[in-house]
Amino acid sequence: MTAFVSQFEPTTAGARDFLARPAKQHLIDGAWVAASSGRSFATHDPASGRHLAELALGTVADVDDAVRAARRAFESAAWRGMTPALRARLLWRIAEAIDAHADELAELETLDQGKPLKVSRFAEIPAAAEQFRFYAGFATKILGTTIPTSIAHQPAGRQILAYTTREPIGVVAAITPWNSPLVMAAMKLAPALATGCTVVLKPAEETSLTAIRLGELLIEAGVPPGVVNIVTGFGDTVGAALTRHEHVDKVAFTGSTDVGKLIVAAAQGNLKKLTLELGGKSPVIILPDADLGLALPGIARGIFNNSGQVCVAGSRVYAHRSLVGAVTLGLAAEADALNLGHGLDPTVDLGPLINRKQADRVAGYVTEAVAHGVEVVTGGRQTGAEGTFYTPTVITRVREDLRLMREEVFGPVVTVAAFDEPDEAIAHANDSVYGLAASVWTGDHGAAQRLAARIQAGTVWINCHAYFSPELPKGGHKQSGWGYENGAPGLENYLETKTVCALL
Ligand code: NAI
Ligand code: MG
Repeated sequence: MTAFVSQFEPTTAGARDFLARPAKQHLIDGAWVAASSGRSFATHDPASGRHLAELALGTVADVDDAVRAARRAFESAAWRGMTPALRARLLWRIAEAIDAHADELAELETLDQGKPLKVSRFAEIPAAAEQFRFYAGFATKILGTTIPTSIAHQPAGRQILAYTTREPIGVVAAITPWNSPLVMAAMKLAPALATGCTVVLKPAEETSLTAIRLGELLIEAGVPPGVVNIVTGFGDTVGAALTRHEHVDKVAFTGSTDVGKLIVAAAQGNLKKLTLELGGKSPVIILPDADLGLALPGIARGIFNNSGQVCVAGSRVYAHRSLVGAVTLGLAAEADALNLGHGLDPTVDLGPLINRKQADRVAGYVTEAVAHGVEVVTGGRQTGAEGTFYTPTVITRVREDLRLMREEVFGPVVTVAAFDEPDEAIAHANDSVYGLAASVWTGDHGAAQRLAARIQAGTVWINCHAYFSPELPKGGHKQSGWGYENGAPGLENYLETKTVCALL
């Protein structure tokens, strides 16, 4: 394992041109505009610390402009009158534009976020395109029902016709995190546009570049002015203003549970509809008959990918006592084989954490746990020129009451503990305020399904972890969130039902 970073330059003309252009602006009503304050803020490459670009520092007034533009677009003939088939084509064109610019988007994502290019280029940017392709198919299939009613008090000779229609909810505020920036934005934009909503997107302040580039591609693809607006800036100003704005009908948020709770409070004013994709503390249960050849690389990927900055990261491993030694050493070997460095280096497996603060936070959890007697089998080192890297870490001899075991660390840190009976593993798995995801590893599919039924989580993987696709609903039980993204349920977030009951 190495951890060194020289500066890497993007190779695509698209990424270079984009970075060379002057200060990035908000997208409001189809035009790029400066922040009303005239101020900007910087975004950096977390691996090298290099300054990448200046972004418009959004204000409450900018949010108001964007929301009003979104409201006008929602009422406009250009958007309201667009047939479902034309909306479907528009979504498909967006997918194609993302594919056509995948190399440059991947480089921008890697520079801004830190993740290895192979992950940006072959997983996340294509996944963003797939969101638009998947929901393009739904645009023409948003159906109501006709309902035979049992109402029996109509006048003689008259009949009742009752049916439902589905209507777009209105103006959506999409607030996204920094761990997988473009795909998170796509997970909100695609279903919102498929249903006919309009959007104000606030990307995470650490990673706004691909959202801005996507904004340019949306205009080229023919998204009408005001249908998608992008306001860059900070959570406590731009994010907070969106969540309390009286003309925002719905907030789609992915991020921390703490901010999720702030959004619930802010949304009270006009009772906005909310979908909240929040944190996790996902358990991984390994039964005695598990195939470790499959499990060890799968579990390692499930925690170390994206340097652990993944909401579903499998951070708590519970292995049957007969396997716990092999699992601990096996995961340590997987960790040690990972190559840390700048994401643009094609040999790199793990990039930095998003910033120094997050790396310090991860280190803090480990240091505190060490003081309480845990054993660091491998890793546990904060490193790199900017102190933003953290070596993949395997920890044993844990106690369930440690903060390390209870809170979302959001770093490449996994704990391994033993259990004797499956009931014990389930009790530990469910002893969490979170309920986002879990995985179970065994050759016995009956046992796996019995455990899957008892685990409190929005997703349970069997013999795999962090397998995603736009058709698989994804959401949190307990304090991991409200509502589901992806699949058919993902559309529901953006639709209202209207019942029409007529006396004929
Ligand atoms: P965060 O929850 O503050 O950031 C997510 C998004 O929310 C960003 O766009 C941010 O600007 C926005 N935001 C912040 N405050 C807001 C407010 N008052 N109103 C509206 N929007 C607001 O997450 P942060 O602080 O960057 O990371 C801290 C921890 O949160 C991480 O260590 C991790 O545990 C968790 N997290 C979880 C994510 C997930 O996918 N489950 C994603 C990001 C963070
Ligand atoms: Mg950045």
